[in-house]
Amino acid sequence: MARISVIGSGYVGLVYCAAFAELGHDVWGVDIDADKVRRLNAGECPIYEPGLPELLTRNLATGRLHFTTDYAAAVPKSEFVFLCVDTPASASGEADLRTVRKASASIGRHLAGDTVVVNKSTMPIGAGDLVESIIARVAPAGATFSVVSNAEFLREGSAVHDVLHPERVVIGCDDHVPAERVAKLFAPLGAPLVITDRRTAEMIKYASNAFLATKISFINEIAQVCERVGADVTTVARGMGLDPRIGSQFLEAGIGYGGSCFPKDVKALAFMAREAGYHPSILNSVMDVNADQRRRFVAKVQQRLGDLEGKTIAVWGLSFKQDTDDMRESPAIDIIRTIEQRGGRVVAFDPAAREHARTLLPNTTIADDLYSAVAGADALCIVTPWSVFRTADFNRVRDLMQTPLIVDGRNLLDPALLVEHGFEYIGVGRRLRRLTPLKPLAQRIPVRVARQAVAGSA
Ligand SMILES: NC(=O)c1ccc[n+]([C@@H]2O[C@H](COP(=O)([O-])OP(=O)(O)OC[C@H]3O[C@@H](n4cnc5c(N)ncnc54)[C@H](O)[C@@H]3O)[C@@H](O)[C@H]2O)c1
Repeated sequence: MARISVIGSGYVGLVYCAAFAELGHDVWGVDIDADKVRRLNAGECPIYEPGLPELLTRNLATGRLHFTTDYAAAVPKSEFVFLCVDTPASASGEADLRTVRKASASIGRHLAGDTVVVNKSTMPIGAGDLVESIIARVAPAGATFSVVSNAEFLREGSAVHDVLHPERVVIGCDDHVPAERVAKLFAPLGAPLVITDRRTAEMIKYASNAFLATKISFINEIAQVCERVGADVTTVARGMGLDPRIGSQFLEAGIGYGGSCFPKDVKALAFMAREAGYHPSILNSVMDVNADQRRRFVAKVQQRLGDLEGKTIAVWGLSFKQDTDDMRESPAIDIIRTIEQRGGRVVAFDPAAREHARTLLPNTTIADDLYSAVAGADALCIVTPWSVFRTADFNRVRDLMQTPLIVDGRNLLDPALLVEHGFEYIGVGRRLRRLTPLKPLAQRIPVRVARQAVAGSA
């Protein structure tokens, strides 16, 4: 079993700490946030991630899992050091590597023996070289190391499952010995391996996220056309997704992508393309369509209610997606701020992100449950597709609201059911007219074929 340090105990690092300990390794989580480390050592999970509290508790109890702010306690004896710090976007779209630089220097100063430094953070193509050069500058004499890229593909909300059952493990290193060491570490997970050079591995991560974001913006563009020509995008997406060449995932129209990865990774890839002298027209359009979806959503509320001044708007959902408390780049932030700038009062509810929301949205009333959020509301906006919203008591919701209007930014709810409950329903790219009941099969023979059949029998 290996001794592993994981630098950064956030949404990625923390899951890896617990998962590596679960696989039997001796794991040291290092974070500069002393309060987070204290809470972790006290058995508290600082983020909402299904299954993670149990995994942390179980592995803290085995003595295989430790959290510290002290690099010296963790790094020197580690065979592997995983870099899992944040890489946010800067104003130009370029990835901000200040945290990576600091953490790399701290790792470098504490290296001893032969260590593999593994980049899990999403970093621009070539950033592995930067990490290597920073470490080389400060590493003590006699310490040897290699830097391997090992981009992460977990999804918040199912991160524990994704880490323990990955669909692929991408390992990038120009030297095969450290690449093989990392491959061996991941071998018990049984995932297909892609072993390549570092820059190609770094690009696999950006290209993957940009492709998924493109799928989302593509179906959102189709939704816009559907609204104008009277087609239903949810059925269009189903009809498309059944084709295995297309696939059904990430083909749900709505208010667009958000979160700590897609927005910054698409921006960073577009930045890298521009810097390299290429005009990234697809990526630019993906970002434009995504921004438009949020604007159009508020426009729909306004079109229906008129001036938002003095109106009360209920919002269900604040996190960027369901099953997480992460509000980084959540569409909810833009949407709520726009409504508030236009004079509306927002009362919002989220099953997990209420604490973050109180800091990020100081003018918004954060309700403690679904129903108090809608009391007296002129409209209810569905912003995050939490499953608990689907099973709400809509008779109660209607009776509590001032105006029974639902604007569903995720196409989460069943329009027909809501109309039956007395709501006006507005979705994204949805056709609301009920289909006429199907006729018996015999009456559905296409006219031309039926005529031929009659002629043939004559
Ligand atoms: N969150 C995801 O779903 C996801 C998925 C795939 C890849 N990624 C990538 O993984 C990386 C980490 O993402 P995240 O969401 O876990 O970030 P995060 O912000 O949740 O966590 C980063 C952690 O690093 C700590 N930190 C900052 N500076 C440090 C330092 N010098 N030393 C030690 N710790 C330090 C912070 O206190 C924080 O706890 C990013 O590059 C991200 O793009 C994230």
